[in-house]
Amino acid sequence: MEELVELTIDGKEIEVPAGMNLIDAAERAGIHIPNLCYLKGMKGIGACRLCLVEIQGLKAPVIACNTKVKDGMIVNTKTDKVQEVRKFVIDLILSMHPLDCMTCTKAGKCNLQKYAYDFELKESSFTRKKFGYPTDAANPFIMRDPDYCILCGRCARVCNEQGTNVLEFMGRGVESRVITANDKPLQESGCTFCGSCVDACPVNALLESDRLRKGREWNYKEINSVCLLCGNGCDITVSTKDGVIQKINAGAEAGSAEKYICAYGRFGFDCIGAETRLTVPMKRVNGELKDTDWQDALAIVSEKLKQAGKEAGFISVAGIGNEDALTLKKLARDVVKTKNFDTTLSLYADSESLRNSQAANVDNADLILLVGLDPSQWKRVLPALDAAVRRRVGRGAKLIVVNSSETKIEEAATIGLKGDEISILESIAKALTEKGIKADRRLVSSVKNAEITEPVEKAADLISGARSPLIFSSPALFNASANIALLKGKVISVGLESNARGIALMGLTTEGKTYREMINGRMKVLYAVGEVPMVKRPDADFLIVQNSHMTELAKQADVVLPSATFLESAGTMVDYMGRMKYLPKVIEPQGESKSHREIFTGISKLMGTPLKKVTEAEVGKAAKVKTKPAFSSFVKQEGLDVSPEELIESVNASVINGSRLLWLKETEKAIAV
Ligand code: SF4
Ligand code: SF4
Ligand code: SF4
Ligand code: FES
Repeated sequence: MEELVELTIDGKEIEVPAGMNLIDAAERAGIHIPNLCYLKGMKGIGACRLCLVEIQGLKAPVIACNTKVKDGMIVNTKTDKVQEVRKFVIDLILSMHPLDCMTCTKAGKCNLQKYAYDFELKESSFTRKKFGYPTDAANPFIMRDPDYCILCGRCARVCNEQGTNVLEFMGRGVESRVITANDKPLQESGCTFCGSCVDACPVNALLESDRLRKGREWNYKEINSVCLLCGNGCDITVSTKDGVIQKINAGAEAGSAEKYICAYGRFGFDCIGAETRLTVPMKRVNGELKDTDWQDALAIVSEKLKQAGKEAGFISVAGIGNEDALTLKKLARDVVKTKNFDTTLSLYADSESLRNSQAANVDNADLILLVGLDPSQWKRVLPALDAAVRRRVGRGAKLIVVNSSETKIEEAATIGLKGDEISILESIAKALTEKGIKADRRLVSSVKNAEITEPVEKAADLISGARSPLIFSSPALFNASANIALLKGKVISVGLESNARGIALMGLTTEGKTYREMINGRMKVLYAVGEVPMVKRPDADFLIVQNSHMTELAKQADVVLPSATFLESAGTMVDYMGRMKYLPKVIEPQGESKSHREIFTGISKLMGTPLKKVTEAEVGKAAKVKTKPAFSSFVKQEGLDVSPEELIESVNASVINGSRLLWLKETEKAIAV
């Protein structure tokens, strides 16, 4: 059980977990201790001295961001002495800061502005210092204006902790500056444009490039949602104004470094209004796609599906919501009466591994084992997992990487075990059982011939000594990884698409032909949902494409149905950690586009078997699985070896090509040459 400590802050008695710092403890009591360089979740560095507080019994004030609570501590956060120091600090910072709050885009969200107001400082009492540093605006994502920088260091710390290491301090005292390596523009410095530094910056020194005159912070409506663009399913906060998305930030509380989102999640939303956006249904007339209305399009689709019956097939991406998945399954199985419904999930995972994954939280893990996975912020394959693992390692967790190929994440590992993953897992299992961890007899016998090398022995020492080990496994290696979890820890199968786990739980997995069989065989009707990774029309008599954007495949379809994007439709998803997450409808769908399930329901009505709305209870019931961890052979599942990078890029092609991300892709290509 968590150890609690009792203390008094500004006369309020509170009880907080041992080890907490005074800024966070005070916040629990509803007391704000001014701070500029502190980032929730990271160790205080004492750079700004704004968080000074007085503690009874101590002669000098102490910095709250770096002082841990103690039983019986009596803290005063607003004594004349500390208020005077704070006012002095803000006064000094203001002497080096442009005083243009009336036009500054960050106004309303800027901590310096807030504190200047609190201390009634209209301007500085010190001589003004102007630096005139050049602005870095050479990319379409982030504008860096060092003249606004208050040298709090938050950007550099967050960038370094997540392992991107782009920003650093140069120089000393007031002359110091945050720079990139060799002071080059961000795109030439290994920046991934994740924007974590923008979220961390308390002032206007780092800002989204397109924010100028797009409304003030107080004009924005903030809505929490989830990014569905890759297997991470990151929490996001979407800011809208007049029903239009203005920006997306990581879904963490302000002043926290706890959440990460990548450039796709942060900047890909431009694609919502891209030229390629589908806003009306289309049908093929004399060889050409022509606009039509919903009634006509759905009538054609229903008729074709009715005729095809069990020879119809449905393929979908695994980035659709649970409600869409359940409705699609019902449409296929109960209305069209075909067993052929499958998703892209079957290209990289078996649904059993996703169904049998446990629930966990990476932030609680003190040891992480990555099996057969190559998460990378740079390749944008599970970038948030890469960042989260590196952050945990930076805070003391151990990392073991098991992979038959080179991985970049290995640079952060305590132990890297390169080679055949199955043999390595067998050896680890044997080493663990030899340490006295109780195991199933079949497990012991299956690993009896495994060879224990020195690094494997060390890895087993780390695992057996860990309090809360967590294994992230590629789906193909899940059974073998789960055998390790039978001995110690929890295991998660990591899918490549956002709702892979939800799709598996909802049961949108074929009872007939698989995804590959449907695209390689001849279907009477093939119905593709979402941006399925395909550019050439498969050999189907009739092709229906339901997607938010015009794709190469859609151009070859017989009917095209415009669907809403995930930001335009409400629903739920289950992330790879097993957390059910809710996505509200952030904005209205463009044009006449409709949510996937509305379209499926419309078809079911025309086919004479109207589907009812999927309820929350239904989703909840489907998501509940009772898993009984049991030994299974140490074997790798074959046929799940799609390239993660290619798959992610291709299911997001419209997002990339219809947004600022295209610049990033092209710049990265040019730099790589
Ligand atoms: S955008 Fe991301 S990678 Fe680039 S400097 Fe900021 S935190 Fe670092
Ligand atoms: S750019 Fe922003 S976050 Fe970075 S040191 Fe300057 S003020 Fe702090
Ligand atoms: S890591 Fe994946 S889920 Fe997270 S913001 Fe990026 S694309 Fe979206
Ligand atoms: S917040 Fe504590 S010193 Fe800056």
